[in-house]
Amino acid sequence: MTVDDTTTPQHGVVRERHGTILLEAQGITKRFGDILANDSVSLTLRAGEIHALLGENGAGKSTLVKILYGALDPNEGDLTWQGQSVTIASPAEARALGIGMVFQHFSLFEALTVAENIALAMPPGQSFRELSERIRHVSRDYGLTLDPAAIVADLSVGVRQRIEIVRCLLQEPRLIIMDEPTSVLTPQEADQLFVTLERLASEGCAILYISHRLEEVQRICHHATIMRHGKVVMECDPAGETAGSLARLMVGSAVHDLKRGVVPREGDVQLALKELSATAEGPFAVAIEDINLDVRAGEVVAIAGIAGNGQSELFELLSGERLASRDTAVTIGGTPMGRTGITKRRRAGAAFVPEERLGHGAVPGLKLSENLVLTRHGTGDGLVQGGFLKTERAGELEQKIKKNFDVRMSHDDPEARSLSGGNLQKFVIGRELDRQPELLVVNQPTWGVDAGAAALIRQELIDLSRHGAAVLAISQDLDEIFEIADRVAVISRGKLSEAIPSHKLTRERIGLLMGGLDEDSGGAGDAA
Ligand SMILES: Nc1ncnc2c1ncn2[C@@H]1O[C@H](COP(=O)(O)OP(=O)(O)OP(=O)(O)O)[C@@H](O)[C@H]1O
Ligand SMILES: [Mg+2]
Repeated sequence: MTVDDTTTPQHGVVRERHGTILLEAQGITKRFGDILANDSVSLTLRAGEIHALLGENGAGKSTLVKILYGALDPNEGDLTWQGQSVTIASPAEARALGIGMVFQHFSLFEALTVAENIALAMPPGQSFRELSERIRHVSRDYGLTLDPAAIVADLSVGVRQRIEIVRCLLQEPRLIIMDEPTSVLTPQEADQLFVTLERLASEGCAILYISHRLEEVQRICHHATIMRHGKVVMECDPAGETAGSLARLMVGSAVHDLKRGVVPREGDVQLALKELSATAEGPFAVAIEDINLDVRAGEVVAIAGIAGNGQSELFELLSGERLASRDTAVTIGGTPMGRTGITKRRRAGAAFVPEERLGHGAVPGLKLSENLVLTRHGTGDGLVQGGFLKTERAGELEQKIKKNFDVRMSHDDPEARSLSGGNLQKFVIGRELDRQPELLVVNQPTWGVDAGAAALIRQELIDLSRHGAAVLAISQDLDEIFEIADRVAVISRGKLSEAIPSHKLTRERIGLLMGGLDEDSGGAGDAA
């Protein structure tokens, strides 16, 4: 993708902006090695405004908000808070000014209660009882109900995020920064969050909102700043744009429609699930109940469903991170492997991409080439010979994946944690696709990646199948499912519907199946 780097900031249709200016950033520059993550960025945030910060993966959004929150030092630039020039040297200083932040990755202690976790972040001087009462009050008031005495380990991802938000609200911030808050939420939880954000804005709070989901940006944001390659390239009113035009502004070129090609004649069954069941492990786990599914070479089958309906449990059973009770429950390439571990499944030609990139898909503190070796050492592609690691070969592969998947990084072979969220996802997917597996199972393939990269990844999944692999994609994103899937099955409370050809499906029908409302219609027929 070529991008015109000489672009100067433009102004699209900008609605007249009201509200007093709370925070002004001017000429913010931040370098990591040779990379200019922020290149003289200026931004104005106003009271009562939900302000979107948009840009493709690696554009510099997280870097900028970390600077505003005092978590990173800029190399250059000035900050003004309510008319006063300030330096924000730490998150504690940001909070003292009235700036709060909700990070995408939570910072909660699982063994502690909700109230204990919140108490850790509050200034001393308040009794625990008073705090619990305030938590109950504020959470109820904003529609984010929390039980102060609940243990975090027992809570779902959506509820954990509520804790982070309530913790932020208790500090009565004037500005709240949110970095991709909805990527882990169910559609219902996201709707609830939007109600809360609109309420906060109406009370005069400023909100800086990072998201790759352009529909939601259009729905709730009053103003948008778009970054590309570390610079601000445009400001606009998102309501005056379409999701397509916003995507174009972000990546600097049109996002192409996917080429579907044709499904080859009946390919071999590469993955067969037969009466696959598993009990729930833990209070928030879902039991898997009697799942049956065939995925053939040449096709992309998608599993749709609202998060938390058994997707991660199913993924673990497919990858071999968790073993099934019988070998015949999971057959890969004709061989029953339900009781076989992940390395042997990989050796049999299967590849697995989990949903969570950092920690599960990649080890944060290891270099990319070392991460490569971790999933591929046992797969016979020359990374280990005679018991020795071929570091050179790992380096070559790392370069190839970087090039083919447009993974942007500040220097060669960095640690996984220094990549922007979306670039790490591109790397993890590229690593598995590069092996040209016969079976690919991927959970939320485009989680956190921008529109351009999402199109690239989706096209790669289709192409892989058309070259003769079987692809099973678990996704929450209906647009994605309709773009890539030949057949769709819906998971709801651990049960999987029959896989239905996607041209026979409507959104409404999938919606009903997701809600578990169409369970006994027999699948292929139309919903009554
Ligand atoms: N700690 C770090 N060390 C080295 N480079 C870094 C570090 N943090 C970020 N970068 C680089 O700075 C650039 C901007 O990254 P940033 O995380 O701000 O992007 P982003 O816009 O938030 O992207 P995404 O949408 O993928 O989350 C990227 O090229 C990234 O590799
Ligand atoms: Mg980011």
